[in-house]
Amino acid sequence: MYRTHNCGELRISDVNKKVKLSGWVQKTRKLGGMTFIDLRDRYGITQLVFNDETDAELSEKAQKIGREFVISISGTVTEREAKNKDLPTGDIEITVNELNILSKSEVPPFTIENETDGGEEIRLKYRYLDLRRPAVQKGIILRHKMAQEIRNFLSNKGFLEIETPFLIKSTPEGARDFVVPSRMSEGKFYALPQSPQVFKQLLMIGGYDKYFQITKCFRDEDFRADRQPEFTQIDCEMSFVEREDVLTTFEEMTKHLFKTVKNIDFADAFPRISYDKAIEEYGSDKPDIRFEMKIHDISNSAKGKGFKVFDDAEYVGAVCAEGLAGYSRKQLDKLIDWVKRPQIGAKGLVYVKYNKDGSFKSSVDKFYSPEDIKEWANILSAKPGDLILVMSGKRKETLTQLGELRLEMADRLNLRDKNKFAPLWIVDFPLFEKDEETGQLHAMHHPFTSPKQEDVVLLDTDPEAVKADAYDLVINGNEIGGGSVRIYNTEMQKVMFKHLGFTEKEAEEQFGFLMNAFKYGAPPHAGIAFGFDRWVALFNGSDSIRDVMAFPKNNAGRDLMIDAPSEIDEQQLKDLRLKIVRE
Ligand code: AMO
Repeated sequence: MYRTHNCGELRISDVNKKVKLSGWVQKTRKLGGMTFIDLRDRYGITQLVFNDETDAELSEKAQKIGREFVISISGTVTEREAKNKDLPTGDIEITVNELNILSKSEVPPFTIENETDGGEEIRLKYRYLDLRRPAVQKGIILRHKMAQEIRNFLSNKGFLEIETPFLIKSTPEGARDFVVPSRMSEGKFYALPQSPQVFKQLLMIGGYDKYFQITKCFRDEDFRADRQPEFTQIDCEMSFVEREDVLTTFEEMTKHLFKTVKNIDFADAFPRISYDKAIEEYGSDKPDIRFEMKIHDISNSAKGKGFKVFDDAEYVGAVCAEGLAGYSRKQLDKLIDWVKRPQIGAKGLVYVKYNKDGSFKSSVDKFYSPEDIKEWANILSAKPGDLILVMSGKRKETLTQLGELRLEMADRLNLRDKNKFAPLWIVDFPLFEKDEETGQLHAMHHPFTSPKQEDVVLLDTDPEAVKADAYDLVINGNEIGGGSVRIYNTEMQKVMFKHLGFTEKEAEEQFGFLMNAFKYGAPPHAGIAFGFDRWVALFNGSDSIRDVMAFPKNNAGRDLMIDAPSEIDEQQLKDLRLKIVRE
């Protein structure tokens, strides 16, 4: 037997018990006539003590043990003289009488502690060591708990968990596919699913009216803190439902998770904001509404006073950063540099200091009288002491830049408290998005999303004005989930493909199976998928989803531990009839 207890379990009430523990050596130290070892497993740390005088041989053995050795010990639980209030086991220690080294360890490349000295690359290379750190374990354990709660909730609501295949044909979610060559079918490839989208729709046609799955999705796209090439979705679909049914069900699931995992109650319904309004007021379709600082359109008031930049702009908008009128020239210059960074891409920034004495000082005083500027302050409900920041240009672009600036100013003002959560639904997305360069329409969500019934008439005349029956769940500025009511008849699906630039032949080749299925009694259906990694990261207070994935990839999409992607040998290439053409 290796252990009677784990390393986080023993308390003062266990004193005098004979116990066996196994785990990793956090550290060994000699103090006076004693040798101490901190023994660690995922449950905690227990102090072991060896008396150099009463058992010199055992003490000597203990002193030779290095960090991360795996040992098992037998001993007696003893009350500690110097108690450690920071440890749940800090009232006791184990007086050891038997010690076995189960496995030795080389000196680990970084310290296995919450605050480690290892950089991210080295930690990813030795991820199995990184996984031993309590801070990482906390995220992995939280992930398990959330998966469990989701399964409980959905299962209780009658949802069936059904797996769908990974070796499939391309599903258009807007990213590139990862492809897998087929050995059996020469020159043919499988694609890995970007999501189970078409399969869940086929399950609806198959009669499984409430489906869910916690599953991997694969997308060959650029990486960010909240994006990985393989990630996990909580994928859901329901039949005989309208938008309202889906939003109600999954708002309830969201509240259930908040309650059971974070012990947070949301008494009120989540706010619902239309896509247009979100862009107009927050410059983003995933607004962080933990704080206000809304964007205001000051075009009417700012144009026509001879300031060419604003006069020529399609749109002039502003945000008000509370209490920052004291910003120095240097701070403002830095902020102007910040908006000019390629990531934001603004041409410039106009500021107005609303001084505490009620006067204004702006970078455009030459063009605007105090009365003109007072008008802006009124539109923004600014108060003396505030700093007004103005940007101009093309409407959508400027709003996006103001949206970024809004988040930056909120960070500076500490308005984005990680322990506060502000969920909301974004609804009524446009059905299409236009590629500015080619003029081609793309599905904003995906090609199976239904237009809003009242907008169907616009499909032929003004497709860009058509709204989709699509929705996103947004929490604290993160897109946590997205879904839609689906098209469920062949004709409408054909119209959609036509607008997306598919010829009839292409549509048939790629999605014939789905259009065919629609011919055999398709129920009305709708669904949603949540980014599970993002949700766990949010609840864990992590900035990156990597923190809550057991084996994530690095920024370049590499698994540094197993060294993937890597080359395959000649024989494998031959079997697959593949040739590598090197540029
Ligand atoms: P969508 O593409 O919006 O919808 O994806 C759903 C959610 O998955 C998360 N997500 C990601 N998380 C980590 N890394 C990525 N690369 C990544 N891409 C997306 C986001 C997103 O909200 N089939 C549809 C859903 C549906 O219509 O039911 C779909 O996949 O949190």
